[in-house]
Amino acid sequence: MDKNINIDHKMIEYILSHTNNLHPVQKELIKFNEDLGHIKRLQISILQGNFLQFLIRMKNIKSCLELGTFTGYSSLSMALSLPKNGKIHTIDNDISKNKIAKSFFVKAKVEKKIKTEISDGIIAIDKLIKKRKKFDLIFIDADKENYIKYFDKSLKLLNKNGFIIIDNILWKGEVINVMAKDKLTIKIRNFNNHIKKTKINKYILPIGDGFFICWK
Ligand SMILES: C[S@@+](CC[C@H](N)C(=O)[O-])C[C@H]1O[C@@H](n2cnc3c(N)ncnc32)[C@H](O)[C@@H]1O
Repeated sequence: MDKNINIDHKMIEYILSHTNNLHPVQKELIKFNEDLGHIKRLQISILQGNFLQFLIRMKNIKSCLELGTFTGYSSLSMALSLPKNGKIHTIDNDISKNKIAKSFFVKAKVEKKIKTEISDGIIAIDKLIKKRKKFDLIFIDADKENYIKYFDKSLKLLNKNGFIIIDNILWKGEVINVMAKDKLTIKIRNFNNHIKKTKINKYILPIGDGFFICWK
């Protein structure tokens, strides 16, 4: 079998201490989310945030669309890596979390790079398609029920050489648990099978809860 080491908390600390330090506001937001209790799991992992930052810098990405803002950790991480003229459009239907996210964007002085929209994801994405908007990176991290729709619609919004990244596609390992037959696990499995059939370049990065990385 393939060899993979166990990435535990200590290893993450080691990785972080040998790469880029987190921005103080990223640290503050992680702490804020931890204090929220069980919903803290909604935030992407630190290594996932770092990967988004790496990709943005490496590919000189300037425009991002995000579905699923929550309290703003992924948007904040992406914004910190974007160039001065870079922009993120992030969508979420939760007004109270949006207020929190905005306060952290202001603290980190990246608020000018981030446009937040409070809306249902499908309605918002359809509006962007109508306006013929294009993005270099589309990050899908909202309701899992609509993942296939979000992905198919995102294809219409993607710039040439752009990326679509989707979170939670290993679903805490449940995708391979034959006993798991709940609605959301089935949705994620169906989504992964949908991507498998789609003619697009694809790679699964097993960090956090699993990133599907797709590019044209
Ligand atoms: C996993 S969280 C996003 C986490 C965020 N990317 C981060 O790293 O902090 C998912 C978000 O999707 C939002 N959401 C759920 N259903 C939605 C819908 N139909 N339209 C828009 N947003 C939705 C939730 O309010 C929640 O904030």
